[in-house]
Amino acid sequence: MKAVIVGCGAIADRWARTLTADPRIDVVAVVDPDIDRAEQLAARRCPAAVPATSLRQAHAQVRADLVANLTPPQLHAAVSREALAAGLHVLTEKPLALQASDAVELAELARANRRTLAVMHNRAHDPEFVAFADMATAAQRGPLAVTAEVVVNLHDPGFRREQPLPVTTDLAVHAFDQVQALISGDPAQVAATEMALPFLGAHCGLAAITITFADGSVLCYRGGYAGPGLTTSAVGKWRVDGPDLAARWEPRDQTSSVRPPAYQRCITTMLDTVQAVTAGAVTPWPTLGLRSVAMLQAALTAARTGRPADVSPIPQEQP
Ligand SMILES: NC(=O)c1ccc[n+]([C@@H]2O[C@H](COP(=O)([O-])OP(=O)(O)OC[C@H]3O[C@@H](n4cnc5c(N)ncnc54)[C@H](O)[C@@H]3O)[C@@H](O)[C@H]2O)c1
Repeated sequence: MKAVIVGCGAIADRWARTLTADPRIDVVAVVDPDIDRAEQLAARRCPAAVPATSLRQAHAQVRADLVANLTPPQLHAAVSREALAAGLHVLTEKPLALQASDAVELAELARANRRTLAVMHNRAHDPEFVAFADMATAAQRGPLAVTAEVVVNLHDPGFRREQPLPVTTDLAVHAFDQVQALISGDPAQVAATEMALPFLGAHCGLAAITITFADGSVLCYRGGYAGPGLTTSAVGKWRVDGPDLAARWEPRDQTSSVRPPAYQRCITTMLDTVQAVTAGAVTPWPTLGLRSVAMLQAALTAARTGRPADVSPIPQEQP
């Protein structure tokens, strides 16, 4: 399968390493409006790839089967739409989109075109977190009270320097993915604030997000981009209380989820899906990604307006 990497920033190196190590994949083009970045990524990881400044330009020069969408979040929907419309499978970094309506439209377009739309969920698929969530939910005891705290010290913030509400937009979406393994009720309402910390860096801030769920469960999330004093491990601290249940997940060090092999497993699974869909399987409906976008949209609205926002319902998978 021939792959095009779109967005040659910090995370692209990790994707390029994994894609070039997979015998099923040839990276045929690397795209970035900053052509130096595209050329540098090609030189470092995939010398045969054509550098280009747009997907359209790359598509005019090389035939491709799939796109890895590694652009900043506000471009995810447009880049994925362009790729799906051109008949390409899409593997996208999180979030799937910033608006639930865009995310649903992309899922429907992928279904209609019989193409894959796969979203990176490396935190939700962290094997240690999955084991914790399985343990916490095994007895189905009823509504849960969940807190999560994740503060990250970034050395290369990239787009986050100009991103409005960068913590909510870029970091909290991991928690929106993860909480779905703990709470099965539909997310109902979100209260959110994000305070910028410009004295620590243009991308720095602290977000406090509370989500209530239809089954009575509550998630209180505190996340941030800050300095080394506030930093938690990259996967943070999760705590859960429920009727007859108390559980904690506080890994001290970075877990396997943030090391390349686990990230690599996520990408490999996405490529397996592309292969299956190419062989005729029905395009999987990206329920996890869609529900996260619905929570994200409500969190962004609440943070902008200062008022709680309702979470849009996500359509069920079409037969
Ligand atoms: N899953 C994870 O753990 C994880 C970790 C880091 C980043 N990410 C995600 O990866 C994405 C990229 O993050 P990053 O840290 O690499 O950001 P970055 O700012 O380092 O890189 C983004 C790149 O996209 C390029 N770009 C901008 N507009 C473009 C366009 N129209 N077409 C092609 N390229 C364009 C920029 O020039 C830049 O090189 C984000 O969505 C982020 O949330 C995910």
